[in-house]
Amino acid sequence: RIAARIDRPVVLIGLMGAGKSTVGRRLAAMLGRDFIDADDAIEDAAQRKVSEIFEEFGEAYFRDGERRVIARLIEEKHGVIATGGGAFVDAETRALILDQAIAVWIDCDLETLVERTSRRNHRPLLRNGDPREILGKLMKERNPLYSQAPVRVLSEDGPHKDTARSIIEAID
Ligand code: S3P
Repeated sequence: RIAARIDRPVVLIGLMGAGKSTVGRRLAAMLGRDFIDADDAIEDAAQRKVSEIFEEFGEAYFRDGERRVIARLIEEKHGVIATGGGAFVDAETRALILDQAIAVWIDCDLETLVERTSRRNHRPLLRNGDPREILGKLMKERNPLYSQAPVRVLSEDGPHKDTARSIIEAID
């Protein structure tokens, strides 16, 4: 039962634009827990934007830092942690999250992801090409991994607070 592990951090995973940060903030408020966004924590630690880390040092370097930061956030027992879309794709980070947290996959259809990510294009992975094509490809590659999470919720049509409520129902 997942309820028995509710003392663990809830870690939100899923593609860019799925709503991890917004849903996470709401979920934390509803649970009376703290919320932290792993990408923000990486930017704080590196004193650089995620896009700058990708540009200056490359994706592999970013993934190493991301793994260390997520390990620390879990260790610090934050209540709800939103991760960047690629975090759970890294085998070590995935093992850590599955072992020490409650992983929740926020699943979403392609059209919604394209729509949401087009509002502000600060994402290094969507800069060099057609966002729909890139997101479609990432979906095929990553969904089989995201599906290893014990909890999956959809964030397509309803407001983010409904998604947060679905998560509470699933883990309660
Ligand atoms: C990434 C997602 C981003 C950010 C980085 C890489 C990915 O986070 O970590 O640009 O590999 O999917 P969001 O999912 O919050 O956009």
